[in-house]
Amino acid sequence: MLAKAELHVHLEGTAPPELVARIAARNGLTIPDEMLGEDGRFHYTDFLHFLRTYDLAASVIRTAQDYRDITYEYLTDVAHEGGIYVELTASPDHAALVGLGDDEHLLGIAAGIDEARRDCGIEARILLSAVRNFGVEQAIRVARYAAQRPHPYVVGFALAGDERFPVSEFGTAFAIAADAGLGCTVHAGEWQGPESVRAALALPVSRIDHGVRAIEDPALVEEIAARGVTLNTCPTSNVVLGVYAAYAEHPLPRLRAAGVAITLGSDDPPYFGASLAGEYTICAEHFGWDDEDLLAVTGAALDAAFCDAELRSDLRARL
Ligand code: ADE
Ligand code: ZN
Repeated sequence: MLAKAELHVHLEGTAPPELVARIAARNGLTIPDEMLGEDGRFHYTDFLHFLRTYDLAASVIRTAQDYRDITYEYLTDVAHEGGIYVELTASPDHAALVGLGDDEHLLGIAAGIDEARRDCGIEARILLSAVRNFGVEQAIRVARYAAQRPHPYVVGFALAGDERFPVSEFGTAFAIAADAGLGCTVHAGEWQGPESVRAALALPVSRIDHGVRAIEDPALVEEIAARGVTLNTCPTSNVVLGVYAAYAEHPLPRLRAAGVAITLGSDDPPYFGASLAGEYTICAEHFGWDDEDLLAVTGAALDAAFCDAELRSDLRARL
């Protein structure tokens, strides 16, 4: 099985409806009516509605044990499809909204990582993410917490959420994280165009999540390639949410041909019917990539990973 690595997946967004329902039940909660459609899948009609549905699902995830279970189930699933390394984007803000402390939140995730490694040999690390639409002050709080290196598995700082909130307002949060030596990544060029990616490049980031709409500005694509910034792309997420009408229109092959380093991610797998292995298969089927091409994608992910050098070289030896 081809070795795979994933740098772009949101932890709450990995929990399928059945797991969210199980967690809600043991917390004595009922799942919010609007969360699921009649088909039993997560229900949303557009990007902002997706973010609200995501928040509804997160609202029943309340304890360290819940986070352990979500982490363990996701990582063991990915290991069964060839995953060797995952960076999980975790959101202290979502945990805080349900009264779960930052340290407890991390301990739950770390337990899931340790148990998945023990059972399946997969490795994982944690990015602490702020959410644009939760505001600048909250982002600074998350960055400060991450900068304290609250757990050895915390290796990076990220920013997700509603891209209409301009990234330029979050410079202080990124400076705090970067000054502490954390790797930094930011969602950009998913819902907004090249100007959003340009603004992201002004931050101390070595990666951009999505970034695909950079394709609308050839000079920007050249700059991304020249600076060696990696785009963590999620083709299925983009097609399902309607950024592109079909895989055939997705710019991933053109970005790659322009010399941009790219990785594959599932973003929020059950919301989009995506999986890490599925993204690899889509690149084979729609873009004609062979095993060598796909192994190079995994290599690019290990190059761009925020883990330490020792783990990186152990993982490279598994390719
Ligand atoms: N949070 C979870 N998934 C996201 C996405 N695709 N874009 C922005 N924020 C997110
Ligand atoms: Zn994302």
